[in-house]
Amino acid sequence: MAKNITFTMIKPDAMADQNAGAIIKMIQEAGFKIKAMKLTKLSNERAGEFYAVHRERPFYGELCEYMSSGPIIAMILEKENAVTDFRTLIGATNPQEAAEGTIRKLFAKSIEANAMHGADSDENAIVEGNFFFSSLEKF
Ligand code: CMP
Repeated sequence: MAKNITFTMIKPDAMADQNAGAIIKMIQEAGFKIKAMKLTKLSNERAGEFYAVHRERPFYGELCEYMSSGPIIAMILEKENAVTDFRTLIGATNPQEAAEGTIRKLFAKSIEANAMHGADSDENAIVEGNFFFSSLEKF
């Protein structure tokens, strides 16, 4: 399995706060190449499919509501050790626990409105990338 691809979304809070440009700049300065990028808006149902792994969690309903509340930017990124390095760049899920200088520390509001999603494994990066992009859109 390739270790050089990850999948990310800029979430509705960061989009609404006009932080997408600053976030993309940080991603590129950290050495990630943008392989695919899409501005879109998830329906509640599509958000539910994307986060199906969390279906049993108490926050699932709110997470789906939130992720379908406004536009997002989905991206496939390339770099050596992309998944691990990207999770370091974005910081902990809960911004209160995120390290200084990370994207979530700088831009996230709460554990739900936490500015960015980052795939948690090489396998999920592929699955999640395929959720948003056809093979023709990945170059
Ligand atoms: P993300 O990396 O997109 O993966 C799953 C998301 O669920 C996570 O970021 C958070 O936004 C959200 N999440 C995780 N734990 C909680 C929680 N305890 N309460 C609300 N949302 C959560």
